[in-house]
Amino acid sequence: DWTTENFIEEQVQLIRNKVGDGKVLCALSGGVDSSVAALLVHRAVGDKLTCVYVDHGFMRLNESERVVKTFREELGMNLVFVEASERFLNKIAGVSDPETKRKSIGNEFIRVFEEEATKLGKVDYLVQGTLYPDVVESGTSTAATIKTHHNVGGLPEDMQFELIEPLRALFKDEVRAVGQALGLPEDIVWRQPFPGPGLAIRVLGAVTKESLDTLRLADDIVFQEIKKAGLYRQIWQSFVVLPTTVKTVGVMGDERTYANPAILRAVTSDDAMTADWARLPYELMERISSRIVNEVEGINRVCYDITSKPPGTIEWE
Ligand code: XMP
Repeated sequence: DWTTENFIEEQVQLIRNKVGDGKVLCALSGGVDSSVAALLVHRAVGDKLTCVYVDHGFMRLNESERVVKTFREELGMNLVFVEASERFLNKIAGVSDPETKRKSIGNEFIRVFEEEATKLGKVDYLVQGTLYPDVVESGTSTAATIKTHHNVGGLPEDMQFELIEPLRALFKDEVRAVGQALGLPEDIVWRQPFPGPGLAIRVLGAVTKESLDTLRLADDIVFQEIKKAGLYRQIWQSFVVLPTTVKTVGVMGDERTYANPAILRAVTSDDAMTADWARLPYELMERISSRIVNEVEGINRVCYDITSKPPGTIEWE
């Protein structure tokens, strides 16, 4: 019978036997998958595990600070924090093609991660929070070529370590249950999925620091309002997309404005393979719209995306 307790016990044994006296490394993203994987391995081998968190500058508002605080202070894990936002921003300066953007970020991520790994000396194992749907979507199915996801594969061939992927057979809801049982804080257990390249693929077109800052503010308003409405857990993902190449006319007070629209996207889903646009209450949409337009400079209009997947994808890039 599958229970979270059995699963944890079994995995802890397996990981402990596999690792022995080896050294383990984990790339922590702050998402539920890598967090649960790391916590499971930590439970099995304690300080033999070192986590590396790379801040590529495409994270949500205050997200990096929260990850560091949670894992270092609350969970007492070894965490290396790498602030690399300038490096990533330079890497994708002027790049507007989505797949090029994704690949540049993915490659840079690997490079930064490798540098950190080298500093730690010999590493024997690498932990990855790969889930069953990741395996399927990046595997042999045709979906593999739709978008390049950087959490499966893409690791350099010459890196000499073995993978530990304790969540490979699990779906998201099972991962959350395991996280909860391991004492992971609620806000991480229930965190909505967030793409590896982060906000860089939600700023449509070339990414600048300014556009990221604008998007971050709008995104945080959506986060707050969806939470306040008690819908955060029910909704698979809710976020904002910023089409920087589109400008629209508006009016604020006596002033004519000419600024970017923000596109609100909220979907329900079980595993991201298919998704339906969320039927958000009108009052909530109204609040999100007026708050974004009033509080975020550079945005003067809010649109709602009513496309399901398929034929749309969840993200816009
Ligand atoms: P799409 O947009 O393909 O997204 O419907 C499906 C799920 O995957 C996430 N996503 C990514 N995750 N790296 C990731 O780690 C990526 O490049 C990436 N692109 C999309 C997306 O947020 C959704 O949950």
